[in-house]
Amino acid sequence: MSSNRPLAAVTGASAGLGATFARKLAARGYDLLLIARRRDRLEQLAAELPVQCEIIQADLTKDDEVDKVAARLREAANLELLVNNAGFGTITRFLQTPPALAESMHRLHILALMRLTHAAVPGMVARSKGAVINVASVAGFWLSPGGIYSASKQWVNAFSECLYMELKQAGSPVRVQALCPGFTYTEFHDVANMDRGAIPKSWWFDADFVVEESLRGLDKGKLFVVPSLRYKFVVWLSGLLPRCCRQWLALRLPKRRPMR
Ligand SMILES: NC(=O)c1ccc[n+]([C@@H]2O[C@H](COP(=O)([O-])OP(=O)(O)OC[C@H]3O[C@@H](n4cnc5c(N)ncnc54)[C@H](OP(=O)(O)O)[C@@H]3O)[C@@H](O)[C@H]2O)c1
Repeated sequence: MSSNRPLAAVTGASAGLGATFARKLAARGYDLLLIARRRDRLEQLAAELPVQCEIIQADLTKDDEVDKVAARLREAANLELLVNNAGFGTITRFLQTPPALAESMHRLHILALMRLTHAAVPGMVARSKGAVINVASVAGFWLSPGGIYSASKQWVNAFSECLYMELKQAGSPVRVQALCPGFTYTEFHDVANMDRGAIPKSWWFDADFVVEESLRGLDKGKLFVVPSLRYKFVVWLSGLLPRCCRQWLALRLPKRRPMR
């Protein structure tokens, strides 16, 4: 891949927020590394974009496939943005979730994100240019009963904040963002077999809006980006309430329903 454009790597680019990031970053003039398991989807996306796209087919729950992507990030001298976006949810609680599924979620949300960040950021720091967007969730601020998903996203928020402070302390201009969306129309809920109808329409946003807010936040160097006033209020409230009140509320929220 050779052009004068900066490069952005997007994990989970085959659908939803990742594909939307890819389209918007192409419009901002980035060449792209598109990463996911479904090569056909990535090829389709690459064909529609007016910039250079390299496809890396990788299952980021597998060590050797994460290594392959990490090696590519390490050698990319024009890498200016890493979007750690790949992820999935489940509606089952911890004790009903097969251990292998719970483990693969943590491999994807935590280990892959950490290893790709470790591969990408040193080069950015050396070049004094670049940014990482970690796609977390509002769920990271509101732990739910048996919620392995919310626990993993709380880690993404904490990790992003720690790295943000590390880079600030080192005087590096490399930016870090934790993007914390609420319910967003993507394939996420189909994959999780979650009934969208159980959540009022007013709590849903488009991927386009969420990614636009993320990129606007990136321009301003914001650490936490929570798209929409509604979810900003939810996050603000979570910081205000004592833990026992958050637990009281979380225990009273309706359970997620599977699709019928
Ligand atoms: N949608 C929401 O309501 C919502 C809310 C808050 C946060 N989020 C977060 O937003 C991020 C993007 O999700 P989305 O809503 O866009 O869901 P989506 O439409 O289902 O997209 C998920 C993406 O992750 C990729 N992916 C899943 N498992 C992977 C694996 N093992 N290796 C590599 N790639 C993998 C998928 O690609 P392949 O299947 O081709 O591998 C797909 O491109 C996730 O981190 C999610 O937790 C979503």
